[in-house]
Amino acid sequence: MSIPLKNDHLLRALRREPVDTTPVWVMRQAGRYLPEYRATRAKAGSFMALATNPELACEVTLQPLERYELDAAILFSDILTIPDAMGLGLSFAQGEGPQFAHPVRTRADVERLGVPDMEGELRYVMDAVRVIRRELAGRVPLIGFSGSPWTLACYMVEGEGSRDFATAKAMCWNEPALAHQLLDTLARSVAAYLSAQAAAGAQALMIFDTWGGMLGPSAYREFSLRYMAQIADALKSDAHAREVPLILFSKGANAHLAEMARTGCAALGVDWTIDLADAREAVSGKVALQGNLDPVVLRANPEVIRREVRRVLDSYGNHPGHVFNLGHGVTPEVDPEHVKVLVDEVHAYSRVLRAA
Ligand code: CP3
Repeated sequence: MSIPLKNDHLLRALRREPVDTTPVWVMRQAGRYLPEYRATRAKAGSFMALATNPELACEVTLQPLERYELDAAILFSDILTIPDAMGLGLSFAQGEGPQFAHPVRTRADVERLGVPDMEGELRYVMDAVRVIRRELAGRVPLIGFSGSPWTLACYMVEGEGSRDFATAKAMCWNEPALAHQLLDTLARSVAAYLSAQAAAGAQALMIFDTWGGMLGPSAYREFSLRYMAQIADALKSDAHAREVPLILFSKGANAHLAEMARTGCAALGVDWTIDLADAREAVSGKVALQGNLDPVVLRANPEVIRREVRRVLDSYGNHPGHVFNLGHGVTPEVDPEHVKVLVDEVHAYSRVLRAA
């Protein structure tokens, strides 16, 4: 028996139903800008030790909810858990980005990859979902997530973060069949991963396609969008995930919002380089939108933060189907008090907007 949700604003907004205040959560809301996160991470010893320990992952998932009136929790994990489970040897050096000991470069490397066992190598993720759902006790919904096949392939082929992911892109041009084989294995893995998270208790699912916007229009359709659509289709006929709203976020891909909306997803994440009014028009109000404050606004003073929050809410207007968020993750140097200013202003001003 699952406990009824005390705050279902996120799920209502994702279904484009009216809500009295706009729901808000923040990408990377559990992270290094919070001193209590840094303390738990130090106790765990490393990022992966933290992410693979369900009790500690639950602890850091709940930390931002203790400070702020957030309308959702997001599973504390990382998009690179899938390639790690595929045996690529993930590590995060302190203060640096992710690194793989065994990047994917050759046909043999791609052929070695299989869909990981969701209750085997990735059981720690599903256990974290179950523990977090229990501890949330219906306070707010829990969002599960995955990276997109394209964004995962970027890290897997490159072996680490990169400004242009030129090695991964070169594979698409030089060996398209190999790139497609890799992306198909990843799409099947992501669909199984999201389905397992839904079965474990995730109440919304999000795909982070952080590097989709690096591709030109036809390459975006061929190497990124097509595989997210494959996942959306698979989830539509999945017993666990069928009723769970799916949010797609391709950063830097605002030119493709209309096509993305046709995948059958419930919502699109939107970065800060487009007005939400224009984004709404692009999708003809057919999906909900999530975004889109520039994360760097959080480094401005509280008055500016409130003004920019109101600007985003005004841009969406008094219509159903808006989930307030940043246009990308909160960064480590942000003052935690500024996040409180943001969350409180979203609730206060959206209430005014509804009444107008
Ligand atoms: O949003 C949340 O609060 C949930 C947790 C979450 C993390 N990573 C925790 C994390 C989520 C949703 C992610 C997604 C993720 N991870 C993405 C897609 C979204 C985005 O931000 O573009 C990407 C590209 C990654 C890959 C990744 N993980 C990088 C590049 C890094 C290192 C650089 C960085 O931003 O810290 C990570 C590590 C990571 N993932 C940290 C956290 C809190 C920091 C690790 C630490 O504590 O040192």
